[in-house]
Amino acid sequence: MTSQTTSAVQSKTEKVEKLAFLITIITTILERIWILIKGRNGRQMEKTEKFWDMIAIDFDKQTGNRIEQNHFKTVEKAKKHLSVGDVVLDYGCATGTITIGIADSVKKVYGIDISSKMIDAAKRKAVERKIENIDFVQSTIFDERHKRASFDVILAFNVLHLLEDTKKIMKRMNELLKPGGFFISSTVCMGDKKTSINILLFLLIKTGIIPSMRFFKIYELEGSIANGNFQIVETESLSNIGSQPNHFIVAKKLLTHVTQL
Ligand SMILES: C[S@@+](CC[C@H](N)C(=O)[O-])C[C@H]1O[C@@H](n2cnc3c(N)ncnc32)[C@H](O)[C@@H]1O
Repeated sequence: MTSQTTSAVQSKTEKVEKLAFLITIITTILERIWILIKGRNGRQMEKTEKFWDMIAIDFDKQTGNRIEQNHFKTVEKAKKHLSVGDVVLDYGCATGTITIGIADSVKKVYGIDISSKMIDAAKRKAVERKIENIDFVQSTIFDERHKRASFDVILAFNVLHLLEDTKKIMKRMNELLKPGGFFISSTVCMGDKKTSINILLFLLIKTGIIPSMRFFKIYELEGSIANGNFQIVETESLSNIGSQPNHFIVAKKLLTHVTQL
């Protein structure tokens, strides 16, 4: 075979491989949209759980460079507020990347998530890495197994915008924290800017294809946290997810109830 024929064969093989890859991606996307359409009339919590179970399959593979950098920054910033004796709750922990990232800085971490598939993946990762001070549990924040005033720190990374009643959630966070405990969060704030992604998300939510989410403006997010009887001690836009700011907030549980305006 001449070198010209060899390179022609190689280029044909590459084209076939690329086409096969494209077909796999398109089939996967169509399959997911079909599952979401079929399940869109279910009960809200079940729908949310099924949606995140489906995302769990390749959640770790989907994390691109920017998201990884963001996770790294979030972990580094959160660690500044953690102590070796702390008992921590990581709310909406998914496959446990951040939970595992902070485990060596604290006494004990509980990672909770509504999706059993996320929790299964998180448990596997912790076993592989021989981490013994984490408990991953499929649960929501209102689970009665979580006792009042039992956590020094609650983490909520990339989850607050996915929850329906922020007021009720912040009240519960306050209840679960020890006096003077910290609530540390990062939240994508999509309310300050109108983009084509926002419009697409809005349509998918309205048609019941994906679970609802909040399009926070930064000041609304800060207000919702402060109104749960917290004092904001740090607030900063970490980076952009797409073109939307991912906002990092550290808030301290107030000892006495303060009515916010
Ligand atoms: C975008 S992921 C963020 C995961 C992780 N905290 C991070 O920053 O990589 C959101 C996670 O929140 C979970 N979630 C959504 N609604 C929830 C709820 N009501 N209670 C508990 N977890 C929930 C989802 O299952 C998903 O794993």
